Amino acid sequence: MNLPNILDARKRTDKKTEYIYLNEEYDKSTFSSKKYYLRTYGCQMNVHDSEEISAHLESIGFEKTDDLENADLVILNTCAIRENAHDKLYGFLGRCKHIKESINNNLIICICGCMAQEENVCKFIMEKHPYVDLVFGTHNIADLEKLLINKKDNKQNIEVYSCEGNVYENVKYHRDSNFKAWVNIQYGCDKFCTYCIVPYTRGKQRSRKSEDILKEVKELVKDGYKEVTLLGQNVNAYGKDLEGEVSFAELLQKVADTKIERVRFVTSHPWDFTDEMIDVIANNENIMNYIHLPLQSGSDRILKLMGRRYTKKEYIALFNKIKDKVENAAITTDIIVGFPNESEEDFNETLDVVNTCKFDSAFTFIYSKREGTPAAKMDDKVSLEEKEQRLYKLNEIINDYSLMNNQKYVGKTEKVLVEGVNDKDQTKLFGYTETMKLVNFTGDKDLIGKIINVEIIDAKSFSLDGKLKEE
Ligand code: SAH
Ligand code: SF4
Ligand code: F3S
Repeated sequence: MNLPNILDARKRTDKKTEYIYLNEEYDKSTFSSKKYYLRTYGCQMNVHDSEEISAHLESIGFEKTDDLENADLVILNTCAIRENAHDKLYGFLGRCKHIKESINNNLIICICGCMAQEENVCKFIMEKHPYVDLVFGTHNIADLEKLLINKKDNKQNIEVYSCEGNVYENVKYHRDSNFKAWVNIQYGCDKFCTYCIVPYTRGKQRSRKSEDILKEVKELVKDGYKEVTLLGQNVNAYGKDLEGEVSFAELLQKVADTKIERVRFVTSHPWDFTDEMIDVIANNENIMNYIHLPLQSGSDRILKLMGRRYTKKEYIALFNKIKDKVENAAITTDIIVGFPNESEEDFNETLDVVNTCKFDSAFTFIYSKREGTPAAKMDDKVSLEEKEQRLYKLNEIINDYSLMNNQKYVGKTEKVLVEGVNDKDQTKLFGYTETMKLVNFTGDKDLIGKIINVEIIDAKSFSLDGKLKEE
């Protein structure tokens, strides 16, 4: 039993990151014919962690199922970024409990991910959800096989470490797609924005060695993958924690040199975004002209309280520089409204940036208090109702600009990576342009996984309609 601890999670020492090359093989018959159901919440990092979790489970014989009631193991990979994540998890746990009591008494229920790294969550699970069998954290995913093999019947085990973290290599993934892949380049975060829980749940910033990243990308190219997304909380700080390592701009160039058809990266912080990075993006055809550049707020006062290390003016200058140099760049953002004591004036500053930058799209959030972060202690007199009104107003403006930007595509021919069949209309396929615009069009299923030309015939706020271009 190991419970997480917020004070330990905050610690940053000068201990060197360990690079651990996994090589253990497990007996596939251990859990043969057993099925696992995996549900993922949160960001791309969690989605990719779930691909790793799947591979660990399959190495001891589990098979994947989408049918919860038929599962022998349920595993919930959670997100802690906002408070409402808790309600979602506890709601779903109720369903699992019911299944365990009424359908399958041997069901193993397991919680992992960022919420597992929260002290209060683990305590709550111990007290109120004793039927949960196993809780493990973001630092010990690689121990999953051992944790399950050594599981004692009916005994709850919580194995969550609050540590700075290591880097694991030779990790296996059961990737969801056979044409686009996530590639971690860095783990954790040291920025400690005052509202954010991530540096506590994911540990310190640890870059993977560029040779290991390139080896992975080259294998993906060999296996026919068309697109890689380089993943990190602050990709532009890549390499800074590793002596002698290349910069993110250099890494990006090397990845582009592998001739993978498409490369993109998330997320880049506006701070540390170098001119060299912009040049590399501009000069390489296979680096997608899509950049996610979180703004969070347009008010200098709030940005300072958030610990974001840039001003409104600096953000806009960077935005314009990217737009000038990278042809047809699409820039999207994240915005938080209602940070503690955000005034109407502060909020108007945010709207001002939105009206200046006219983002392609934005993820917008109402500030959510995260226990243990510095902002949680800040005084806040603004009502939730006021915050909701601000969010509503912001979204209206954002959506207008999304539509306006999308309309510019009408009549153009775009390269689209075809991803699959449209959920709502089975006669249609969908895919993404190089600027990450969603396109729906009629076409044959054989096109899935290919990059094809699509003529854009109509634009909506959140998608484009297209027509297959005959070659
Ligand atoms: N590393 C990325 C962000 C990862 S979290 C970056 O710095 O850009 C994704 C988004 O969630 C953030 O950009 C922020 O807009 C939002 N977010 C994070 N903490 C939040 C909180 N406490 N309340 C509301 N939104 C939050
Ligand atoms: Fe959170 Fe800031 Fe790190 Fe992004 S940079 S993960 S917002 S602390
Ligand atoms: Fe959520 Fe953890 Fe990602 S808190 S947003 S899953 S890093």
